[in-house]
Formats: sequence, C-alpha cells, structure tokens
Amino acid sequence: MIEIKDFSFCYKGSDTKAIDGLNLTIQQGEFVGITGNSGAGKSTLTYALSGIVPHHFTGDFYGAVKINGLDTVEVSIEKLAEYVGEVFQDIDSQMVSSVVEDEILFGLENFGLSHDEIGQRLEQVLTMLKISDLRHRQISSLSGGQKQKVAIAAILAMEPEIIVLDEPTGELDPESTVMIFEILQKLNREYGKTVIIVEQKIMMLSQYTDRMIVMEEGKAVYDGPSKEIVEHVDLFDTLGISVPRVVRLGVTLREEGLYQGAIPTDVDGAEVMVKEVLGC
Ligand SMILES: Nc1ncnc2c1ncn2[C@@H]1O[C@H](COP(=O)(O)OP(=O)(O)O)[C@@H](O)[C@H]1O
Ligand SMILES: [Mg+2]
Repeated sequence: MIEIKDFSFCYKGSDTKAIDGLNLTIQQGEFVGITGNSGAGKSTLTYALSGIVPHHFTGDFYGAVKINGLDTVEVSIEKLAEYVGEVFQDIDSQMVSSVVEDEILFGLENFGLSHDEIGQRLEQVLTMLKISDLRHRQISSLSGGQKQKVAIAAILAMEPEIIVLDEPTGELDPESTVMIFEILQKLNREYGKTVIIVEQKIMMLSQYTDRMIVMEEGKAVYDGPSKEIVEHVDLFDTLGISVPRVVRLGVTLREEGLYQGAIPTDVDGAEVMVKEVLGC
C-alpha cells in the first residue's frame, strides 16, 4: 500500500514546488494511470515512490510518502527496491550494462536467488517481452523501442510487488504499446501486482487502468475511475492535453442532443455511435 500525505517537494536550487500538497492512497493491486502536461510533476512523483526523491535528488521534502508502512525518508533506496521497481523515463540513465542479458541479470544477482531461479526469470521476461533474439546484443546497438522493452524486462524480472513505469511506451509502435499494456494488465489481474504507469496516451490509460490521476503543477487535478475520464474533456482542454477525435465527436453529438450513449474511445465505439445517430 502506498500512502502519500501532504507531500510537497522542491528540488534543491529550484524555487517552485515540483509536487505541491499531494494526498494519495494507492491500495495493493490497483492499476493506476497518471497523465498530465510536461513539468506537471509526474516523474517526480514516481521518484518519490522509489526513493530517488529524496535520496538521490535532494531538496525540500514536506509531508510523508510511505510504502507498505515504510517512510521513504527513513529507509534506503535499496530497501525500497524490495517492493518498488521503477522503469525510468530516461532509460539510458537506468541502463548499467553493455549487453541485454547482463542488464536483466544485474538486478537479479543482488536478490540472493539461486542460479536456476535466475536463469528461469531471465528466460521468462525475454519471452514475455518477445525480445529473446536481443539477448546477446549490445544495448548501444538497440533502437529506442528495443531499449524500452529491455528496461521493462529488467524491472519485471525482479518481480516487484509495485511496478512503476514512467512513459514506458514513448518510443514504441502501437502494436508494442498494446503488448506492454496487455502484459501489465496480466500482472495486475493474475498476480495482484500494483501497477502505476505514467502515460501521454490517455485512451490507452482509459482502456486498461482502473483509476486515473491527472496532474498539473504538482497537484492531482483529477483522481477517479479511468472509464469516466472521457466525461472530462473540458478538463483536458483547459490543460491543453490532446483528446482523440472520436471522444470529441461523441461529446459534441451529446451536447447537440443527437446522442445519449457512451462516449466512444475507439473506432468500434465510434461505429456504434454513428449508427445510432444515423438510426441504422
Ligand atoms: N532533477 C531535477 N532538478 C531540478 N528540477 C527538476 C528536476 N527534475 C524535474 N524538475 C522540475 O520539477 C518540475 C516537475 O518535473 P517532472 O516531475 O519531470 O514533471 P513531468 O514528469 O510531469 O514532466 C518541473 O518544473 C521540472 O523542471
Ligand atoms: Mg516526466
């Protein structure tokens, strides 16, 4: 369980708060999406969950962030890593090895697992992310998307109870993006993992996550069911976050009194809506 109470953080040398009076509770087994504009504080929030803030990035820290009852200010990053695994937005800063296999093994070897268990987990994540063919490749030779998959594999191999991913699909094509969301959904539903994902693709968040948090200037300006997010197009407009055209069309048709059904989030939903409006 994650408990964030009256949390504010100001990076050393900065005069604005990156996080400003945040209160959040995330229960074990939730699948949470976080979105918002650049500079809203999303990455800083993820750093606070893995202890990077305040242990690596120092600054003025107010309030409390607790992971399973442990106060992140009081325990080390290493201790927190037993519970939280984070895929960073800047994956190059996360990579410590030069070969894919070593990158995945690196985290595992600090966990005191048996040789067999390490081998099994390596095989498992390579298969899960469909990157077995990259196993012996130099990381520097990989594309941005391939690197993202390796970074995700390295974190999943450690089987953390809480998985935090900061814009993990930015370099991925639509097919691979869906694959990542499917994997996360499976880990959440079948293995009860808590999954927290920062994403710009709000329709992916609305489709896969249960709860969505929209951040702006270090605050949570929306925190509610992901399915209802399409009802808040005005909020996205105010924040300047782009909304897919099918959603906008649905909202407009409703405002015009031409349609009363659910706001579509994909092409199939749009087809149902258009047929209803046209009466066919
Ligand atoms: N390492 C850092 N040092 C100083 N300021 C930072 C650092 N990282 C982020 N910030 C500042 O904190 C604020 C929130 O940034 P960030 O958490 O990266 O937002 P987001 O991930 O939503 O784009 C921004 O004003 C940003 O400039
Ligand atoms: Mg960020």
